[in-house]
Amino acid sequence: MAAMISNLDAPLGAEVTGVDLSKPLPQGDVDAIEAAWRTRLVVVIRAQTLSDPELLAFSRRFGELDPPGPNPYGEPFNKAYPEINVISNVVENGRPIGGLGDGEAVWHADMTYMEVPPKAAILHALEVPPEGGNTYFADMFAAYEALPEALKDAAEGRVAVHDASRNSAGMLRRGYREVTDVRETVGARHPLVRTDRATGRKALFLGRRPNGYVTGMSIADSEALLDALWAHATQTRFTMCHRWRAGDVLMWNNLAVLHRRDAFDPETRRVMHRTQIRGNERIA
Ligand code: OGA
Ligand code: MN
Repeated sequence: MAAMISNLDAPLGAEVTGVDLSKPLPQGDVDAIEAAWRTRLVVVIRAQTLSDPELLAFSRRFGELDPPGPNPYGEPFNKAYPEINVISNVVENGRPIGGLGDGEAVWHADMTYMEVPPKAAILHALEVPPEGGNTYFADMFAAYEALPEALKDAAEGRVAVHDASRNSAGMLRRGYREVTDVRETVGARHPLVRTDRATGRKALFLGRRPNGYVTGMSIADSEALLDALWAHATQTRFTMCHRWRAGDVLMWNNLAVLHRRDAFDPETRRVMHRTQIRGNERIA
C-alpha cells in the first residue's frame, strides 16, 4: 500500500497514513512525504515504533543530518547515536536525559542562530504526558501574505540577528553570556523575509524573539518592528496544534514555520527522540 496524504483540518499540516517507517520506504512514499512537507509544512505520521537506527534511516531519506545544537550539559544526550537529540523532562540519577524540561517553549524556529539553519526537524514521541505538552506550528508563508502593506514595506530588505545564547526553553547555553544590549547579540544574521527557491513564495523568517535585533535601526524602532511582526505572525489563524500520542512522528519545515510548546505536569513523563535535516543554503 502506498502512502496516503490528507490535509489536517487546519491552515497547515498533513497526515500520512499507510506507511511503516521502521522499514525502508519506497522512493515514491519518500517523495510524497517530502511534497507534503513542502506544501503543508508539517507532516504527522501516527502509530510508529522506531528504534534509534530506524529513526536515523528514515531521517536520512530527506538529506544529511545536522547534529543537535549545543546542550547545556556539554555531552550528547544519546551517546550511542549522537545525531539523535532527546527532548525530555525525565531526570535519571540526578541527570536530565534530554533537553527543554517541562516548561513552555516559546515560539521559535530551530537553530536559526546558525548561518545555515536545519531545513527540517523530525520528532518521534516515545512517551507523552496524559495532557499538556502540545506543540503548535505557525505558517510563515501565510503570515507573510497576510501582512499589512506597511509592515511588508518595513520588513522588506531588513536583516535581523538571531540570538544563539539561549535555547527555546530560555536556558543560557554553555559558553554564552547574557545579552544586555541587543545590538551586541551573538548569532547569525538573516533577512526578515525569505524567498522559497523552489516556488518563489515569500515567507517571514523570524527565528526567535528574545534578544532579536533588526540591524541598522535604533533599538526602539527594532523592538517596535519585531513586536509588530511577531504579534502578526503568531495569530491563531496561521496555526495548528498537535496533541501528541506515543508513536507519533512529526516532521516540520523549519524554514517556513515557527513552533512552540505548552508546559506540562512535571510529575508526568515526556520523551521524544529527534533528528534534523541539514539546510542547503543561506537564507535569502
Ligand atoms: C524541538 C522543540 C517542541 C516539543 O524539538 O525543536 O521545540 O514539542 N520541541 O517538545
Ligand atoms: Mn524547537
